[in-house]
Amino acid sequence: MIVVEKASELRNLLDLMTSDSSGIGFVPTMGALHIGHKSLIMKAKLENALVVTSIFVNPTQFNDKNDLLNYPRTPESDEKLLDEAGCDLLFRPTEREVYPDDQLLDIDFGPLERVMEGSYRPGHFRGVATVVYRLFKMVSPGKAYFGEKDFQQLAIIREMNRRMKTGVEIIGCPTLREEDGLAFSSRNIHLSLDERSGAGVIFSTLKWAAEALKSMDIKHAREKSIERIEAVANFKVQYLEFVEGDTLQPITSWKENARQRVCIAVITSRTRLIDNMAI
Ligand code: PAJ
Repeated sequence: MIVVEKASELRNLLDLMTSDSSGIGFVPTMGALHIGHKSLIMKAKLENALVVTSIFVNPTQFNDKNDLLNYPRTPESDEKLLDEAGCDLLFRPTEREVYPDDQLLDIDFGPLERVMEGSYRPGHFRGVATVVYRLFKMVSPGKAYFGEKDFQQLAIIREMNRRMKTGVEIIGCPTLREEDGLAFSSRNIHLSLDERSGAGVIFSTLKWAAEALKSMDIKHAREKSIERIEAVANFKVQYLEFVEGDTLQPITSWKENARQRVCIAVITSRTRLIDNMAI
């Protein structure tokens, strides 16, 4: 695997390696890579002639300075995982490379960014949309891969992509989970042993809630779900929403085959976990 830090170097290499940028598959990440990331890279490898992964801990999407400072960084094991997954090129730009100016994309995502993550993390999605757009410009991929684990992020990126007419095809990929159902996340290492052993409750509750909604009203299903999760010491539910899968606006009742989703954020003693599931 080739590792580059400069966009100009990346461009030269890609031009040498392929004459057809539609065969480039791109997986943007912030590093501290795990099996969830690996699944995206392996899917990209199956569908493209060339796979580029980026690792960039994007400062503009962190609304909390401590979260940025504490974000895990594991460069050696990241390279090993990327090699195993078959990544061809690792792009690890510096902050100056991505942000030669401090202009952020000026897109109003409307209701899509005013719910859930958007309402608790002001400015977060503008930072995400900006960095993904800038990375798209540098890599010029045919396809780019994102996890459904960050369901609202995926919706925002699809919208940015439409509005900015990047021509990139966005591929959403399923969430990979540990044996007890906890979604793989770079932030899981911040869980204490007790929190980790209780964390399977997030997945089991999402499953329970998705089923319960078919026979129970939303208010009741939400209350019961929160109760189950907050039975684990230090777990506090920040939000638990039943939403329409495209607009992400709250639903009032369950409908069959309506692409509805249940989404959750849980605060623990040292971190914050998010997850979601189709209803
Ligand atoms: P990061 O958290 O590193 O995630 C990179 C990609 O991996 C995202 O598309 C995310 O949804 C996906 N992912 C994370 N955990 C996953 C899991 N358990 N199963 C499947 N996919 C998973 O998301 C970001 O970085 C950043 O916001 C980024 C898009 C790179 C912009 O900075």
